[in-house]
Amino acid sequence: MMYLLFFTLFIWIQEKHAFILPRDEVLWALPKTDKQAEDLQSFLNTTEVILWQPVVVENIQKDQEVHFYVSASNTNRIKAGLRQLTISHKVLMRDVQGLIEKQTLNDTANPRSSSSYYENYHSMTEIYHWMEEIVRVHSDLLEKIYIGSSYEKRPLYVLKLSKRQGNPKSAIWIDCGIHAREWISPAFCLWFIGHAIHLRERDQIMTTLLEHFDFYVMPVMNVDGYEYTWSKPSNRLWRKSRSSHSNSGCIGTDMNRNFDAHWCGHFPLSFHLSPVRRDQPCSRCKHLSGRGASPNECYETYCGPYPESEPEVKAVARFIRDHKDIIKAYITMHSYSQLVLFPYSYTTDKSKDHDELESLAKKAANAIRRTTKKIYTPGPGARTIYLAPGGSDDWAYDLGIKYSFTIELRDTGTYGFLLPSAQIRPTCIEALSAVREIARHVLQNL
Ligand code: ARG
Ligand code: ZN
Repeated sequence: MMYLLFFTLFIWIQEKHAFILPRDEVLWALPKTDKQAEDLQSFLNTTEVILWQPVVVENIQKDQEVHFYVSASNTNRIKAGLRQLTISHKVLMRDVQGLIEKQTLNDTANPRSSSSYYENYHSMTEIYHWMEEIVRVHSDLLEKIYIGSSYEKRPLYVLKLSKRQGNPKSAIWIDCGIHAREWISPAFCLWFIGHAIHLRERDQIMTTLLEHFDFYVMPVMNVDGYEYTWSKPSNRLWRKSRSSHSNSGCIGTDMNRNFDAHWCGHFPLSFHLSPVRRDQPCSRCKHLSGRGASPNECYETYCGPYPESEPEVKAVARFIRDHKDIIKAYITMHSYSQLVLFPYSYTTDKSKDHDELESLAKKAANAIRRTTKKIYTPGPGARTIYLAPGGSDDWAYDLGIKYSFTIELRDTGTYGFLLPSAQIRPTCIEALSAVREIARHVLQNL
């Protein structure tokens, strides 16, 4: 009896304790004036938070939600600071650790060809095994192309999905995992391949797509970064590559700022000399220079020491350059915020195909709405979210691949980067409907 009483007391104290003990959290804040936006910028600059949205403090604006991760030891201090600045805020996620643990649970639990396999997240090691196996078993449809190796010497692969009947076809490129923490992105690439292989006959969309196109699918571009996000729960929010370019101690380049598209706000000489621009020689570049990408290696948007300094970016750029005549669409998967973006991101100017790309992005967003009722916002990158030079979509577009899109998958902040695996399937289904819309348009305009 006595024993039972003590035991109950013990449990009660434990629970109570767990309740009081601060935990890692994701906070939400909304600056309502320019002053508040500025205050929030300088406040977050002096604290140890990991920004989720927007990606750097410079992009914080009034009336736009800010999401950020705070570790247990800082939560109280940061909430007090926000209260003092009278910036409205709330807790978005209370159990960050729990969410992270759940996401890694079923890495190797299901057989590689089962549908539940595609509805879970997988580690880099597991994805390498999966690539090997699926290509071996389905050599009639899949080919694994080695395109180079990463900074940490991991192999970089592109899967070519092709029905291989008749003459060579036009191709669509899809890449995933440019940013390490955006786990839903590689999950889409795996699901896309799995869906194509296993459900081809039953899924009319896939059948039609494969009749007209070959697909080049790169499941994970940032292999080192992705591996790193699996290594410890505390590394789960890593974004960049894992390269080192200085002795500052800061690691990683933002691969989506490392492409040769007005890299780090630099404009080629021809831009200033071209007759159309001569009337406004440098005002534009002063405005853009340094904005949206940083030459500081400690920033989340570090553009690297020079364009294509990252071996992964270089490998992809070379492959796409070598295949640019057959690749008719470039699609890159990111998360989160539910957007269908098209060029440009390096300037707020409209591209010469703006109207066509805008109507196609709208069609893609509508297709998603019909499929799962989710709202994705279409728009050109710089005007829709923020200026960001050196992105892969702008680079591919300027290379001549007109149909170039960045799709930002689910969600809009409820779980952010920690999207539960239960949402992999619906997210992939809606993303596929967007890909189909793009493919259909490309086909009509070949
Ligand atoms: N969230 C993405 C990023 O920060 C947006 C990409 C849009 N395109 C671009 N070229 N920046 O990289
Ligand atoms: Zn991203």
